[in-house]
Amino acid sequence: MKIVGFVGSLRRASFSGAVMDTLIELAPDGMEIERLSIGDLPLYNADLKEDGSPRVVIDLAEKVRGADGVLIVTPEYNRSFSGVLKNALDWISTEPGMPFSGKPTVVVSQSIGLRGGALANYHLRQVLSVIGAAILTGPEAAVASSSDLVTDGRIEDERTRKRLAKELEMLAEAVRRAA
Ligand SMILES: Cc1cc2nc3c(=O)[nH]c(=O)nc-3n(C[C@H](O)[C@H](O)[C@H](O)COP(=O)(O)O)c2cc1C
Repeated sequence: MKIVGFVGSLRRASFSGAVMDTLIELAPDGMEIERLSIGDLPLYNADLKEDGSPRVVIDLAEKVRGADGVLIVTPEYNRSFSGVLKNALDWISTEPGMPFSGKPTVVVSQSIGLRGGALANYHLRQVLSVIGAAILTGPEAAVASSSDLVTDGRIEDERTRKRLAKELEMLAEAVRRAA
């Protein structure tokens, strides 16, 4: 079971990255999560597609097409998800064959605040629904007070780890059902 992971922050010590690394650590048997790099994408500009899309976009879209599922961790910026993540979703959505179409997709938000980026989480769901992702529903995974939970680039808090592991179980189940 191949899952591709997007992190909506480019910061070296990103808490979103720490959540993703924790999810990778918690992946159940048979699930492989590959974190995709989105920091080297240019800002979306249709002119750049005139002679064919940039290689980095083609490769990213191909990874999504080839995946069984998608996992996204985003911070909340001004009550939405991050611009770098939106840029990546916009690029991929313009590639042939609606790469996200029908892909079981888990959304996790995080914030140093008390709501865990719940508004970013729902804003992201709105965009994902337009590009055809099969978004997992249910209570959103929103990691609050993330700066208090991360140690050495990982979430160590047991309750949060259990919550994240549950998301992965739900993703694995959705991928099995979609097969
Ligand atoms: C431009 C900007 C806007 C932000 N807006 C919000 C917000 O609306 N809600 C919130 O909970 N946190 C907000 N934050 C705090 C971020 O969610 C927090 O810094 C987060 O940890 C950043 O993610 P990262 O650690 O993965 O880089 C904002 C941060 C920035 C830089």
